[in-house]
Amino acid sequence: MIKHIWILTLFPEMFKPFLECGISGAAFRGERSVDLKFELHFVNIRDYSQTKYKSVDDSPFGGGPGMVMRADILRYALVKGVQEAGGYESLEKLHVIYTSPRGKVWNNKVAREFGTNVLASNVKDVVFIAGRYEGIDERFLAKYVDDFYSVGDFVLTGGELAIMLMLDSAVRFVPGILGNKLSSEDDSFEDGLIEFPQYTKPREFEGMEVPAILLEGHHKKILEWQHEEKLVMTKKWRPDLIKG
Ligand SMILES: C[S@@+](CC[C@H](N)C(=O)[O-])C[C@H]1O[C@@H](n2cnc3c(N)ncnc32)[C@H](O)[C@@H]1O
Repeated sequence: MIKHIWILTLFPEMFKPFLECGISGAAFRGERSVDLKFELHFVNIRDYSQTKYKSVDDSPFGGGPGMVMRADILRYALVKGVQEAGGYESLEKLHVIYTSPRGKVWNNKVAREFGTNVLASNVKDVVFIAGRYEGIDERFLAKYVDDFYSVGDFVLTGGELAIMLMLDSAVRFVPGILGNKLSSEDDSFEDGLIEFPQYTKPREFEGMEVPAILLEGHHKKILEWQHEEKLVMTKKWRPDLIKG
């Protein structure tokens, strides 16, 4: 199955290094799994502006600082650049997402759900819209956006980094993408705790030894130690995660 992911943005070039590097780059180049291949498509919103100077924004009604992205140009980009270019019979076949401070706050649980239920699902292809300026005309959002996600309680200058962050953290949960199935299960947040400390060669570094238990080859004891260390690390670094 091929899962198409469409990204409407004013800065498609921002995604170039993302696609060139690491596991998620390989995943979104369609090179990681056999059963499910991703194909990313970039739609430059500016290409769909019919204004004289190819502008995509205008000043807000009611006044105020900044500019607002126009609903008509975004709709045109969505219909021409995605629906018609991709051969979808209607916009109903697409899951349209806008990254915005108002959205559902992204965390590991949301990333897992998104990876499993959206990226790995064959029901609908996905469209991400990256906002810029002061955001997008509310009428476009009301009519065409299915889901809103925020990557945290701060304001980015654009939605591109938010989209990359979402894709990178969610693709880890798509079956077949990570080499070792266990690697996402062992990571931080999976059981509500921070990961245990990790060590590799050399056995001694600047007077510090690797914990002896890791060298004894006693699998059960190592698992117990790792669990204890998760608690220690979480209490030390993220006490807010420990409830009750
Ligand atoms: C400068 S921001 C607009 C902020 C908007 N005026 C507000 O106060 O909510 C431009 C774009 O960056 C993206 N963005 C900013 N902060 C974000 C966040 N925390 N999560 C996801 N996207 C964000 C959105 O797509 C937004 O349209």
